[in-house]
Amino acid sequence: MTVKMQNKPCLLLFLVLILSCFIAQILGNKQSQALAQLYKSKLKEGAGIDTSQFEAILHANGAKIHPQEGLKEKDRIGSLPGQPHVNFSQYGGYVTVDKEAGRALFYYFVEAEKTKDSSRLLLWLNGGPGCSSLGYGAMLELGPFRIHSDGKTLYRNRFSWNHAANVLFLESPAGVGFSYSNKTSDYDASGDRITAADNYVFLVNWLERFPEYKDREFYISGESYAGHYVPQLAHTILYHNKRANKTIINLKGIVIGNAVINDETDSRGMYDYLASHALISDQTANKINKYCDFSPNATKQPKACSDAADAAAKDTYYIDIYNIYASSCVSSNLTAKPKKASIFEFDPCSEYYAYAYFNRPDVQQALHANVTKLTHDWEPCSDVIANWADGASTVLPLLKEFLANDVRLWIFSGDIDARVPVTSTKYSIEKLNLPIKTEWHAWFLGGEVGGYTQVYEGELTFATVRGAGHQVPSYQPARGLSLVKHFLDGTPLPDTTRYT
Ligand SMILES: *[C@@H]1O[C@H](CO)[C@@H](O)[C@H](O)[C@H]1NC(C)=O
Ligand SMILES: *[C@@H]1O[C@H](CO)[C@@H](O)[C@H](O)[C@H]1NC(C)=O
Ligand SMILES: *[C@@H]1O[C@H](CO)[C@@H](O)[C@H](O)[C@H]1NC(C)=O
Ligand SMILES: *[C@@H]1O[C@H](CO)[C@@H](O)[C@H](O)[C@H]1NC(C)=O
Ligand SMILES: *[C@@H]1O[C@H](CO)[C@@H](O)[C@H](O)[C@H]1NC(C)=O
Ligand SMILES: *[C@@H]1O[C@H](CO)[C@@H](O)[C@H](O)[C@H]1NC(C)=O
Repeated sequence: MTVKMQNKPCLLLFLVLILSCFIAQILGNKQSQALAQLYKSKLKEGAGIDTSQFEAILHANGAKIHPQEGLKEKDRIGSLPGQPHVNFSQYGGYVTVDKEAGRALFYYFVEAEKTKDSSRLLLWLNGGPGCSSLGYGAMLELGPFRIHSDGKTLYRNRFSWNHAANVLFLESPAGVGFSYSNKTSDYDASGDRITAADNYVFLVNWLERFPEYKDREFYISGESYAGHYVPQLAHTILYHNKRANKTIINLKGIVIGNAVINDETDSRGMYDYLASHALISDQTANKINKYCDFSPNATKQPKACSDAADAAAKDTYYIDIYNIYASSCVSSNLTAKPKKASIFEFDPCSEYYAYAYFNRPDVQQALHANVTKLTHDWEPCSDVIANWADGASTVLPLLKEFLANDVRLWIFSGDIDARVPVTSTKYSIEKLNLPIKTEWHAWFLGGEVGGYTQVYEGELTFATVRGAGHQVPSYQPARGLSLVKHFLDGTPLPDTTRYT
């Protein structure tokens, strides 16, 4: 990873055809590359990515439950190398999702800090596609620890989401992080459908391993391309519950942030955001609006469109479009002594610390990871998944299904992300044509505006998080925790400074 990450990232905005790009793989090994590469490949003529509507597939092996006795205690993590003392239990290990292929997904689970809210179960998924929920979600965003710049010691995140729930981090699909398949051709068949099917088989088996969680309220959360994973898994759960005519998994709600929802509005919203935030010129934005066709069936773009998109890519080349005000990582070197770290100042080099930490043999041993001695390194975003077979052009029909089935739906947006920005999310929600239940208003935390919110009939809550980039809990940890607490409690975000 070190070599590749020191190269300038190949900045490919949606549909930009920069031929000089030197990164050959479709996905990138940093989150800042993975999504752009997928978008680009989706639009290439003859790319062969199936963008049709998502449908749950029955897993090749059926939703088979394998015996899990005794495995929970084996998965218990004594402590992670370099961690401070904590009072909650941690687990890590593999769940086989396909016996014949030898395909297994890796999870990391942190039980809740003991509070009144410590019964519910929350799954977190990162996107990419190809990025690790362990590397990003657990260690850079909402987990109980962050990694110091020495790449070997950890410090507490006092805004960890395990103050609100028991949190399960899943590296998915196979090929991401420590998750693997012994049939390596599986990696080339990666896509939305197999990801949802494997995630589902993972869950039913994991619940067998941790049976005390079976009847708990279950919630799914995620960001970015998990805007696909989360609704698709939720849909798969509803599908199986319906087929079995019983509650196999007690799904109560989903929450997605800076989420890829609907390709057409996502793309239009991105360029509108870039223009309204003074990153590209109005002339470029006007040309994009005039000449580019973002509709799902558009195959070839006129040259005037790709020229304008190239100009936009050039203008944004030197900034981090996942947080337009972030400073860049100047040196990716680890430091012998940990740099002074603050949970309120996200370190832009954090991915390098995660890479160092998770490639340590003692860390892998403590986590019960990499037990089969994989031939590739642990990467923040997968190097081995080079192909994405299917990615629906929209998940809006799934969101409608949740509203009709009493599955709580919250959509949040860090408002300084330009990759899947707040404009995209607003345009996508508009497509649902829902009446407004609670008018747009500021929501508060600690006497300050945490963001803005609007609630729609059918119970969809939309909320922005002020001053947060794409990874909301990295940039605004307190606001992120407050938001997820309100989501899990099913309580509206406060419209006054008085009682927060
Ligand atoms: C762990 O629990 C003990 C006893 O309840 C308490 O004194 C201690 O402060 C807790 N430690 C941490 C790190 O939360
Ligand atoms: C993959 O192969 C290794 C080596 O044969 C084996 O130990 C492991 O159990 C296999 N993984 C799965 C999920 O079957
Ligand atoms: C589903 O289960 C309920 C009771 O739990 C029963 O009343 C109903 O007839 C069942 N439906 C089907 C299609 O089996
Ligand atoms: C796109 O193509 C599909 C079938 O390939 C068709 O059903 C759909 O109506 C088309 N959408 C638009 C916007 O033309
Ligand atoms: C990073 O490490 C390399 C190799 O040890 C060294 O050459 C380089 O000067 C270091 N960079 C900084 C900014 O410290
Ligand atoms: C697994 O372990 C092998 C041997 O120690 C190592 O070379 C490889 O980088 C590790 N891979 C992962 C994904 O941790």
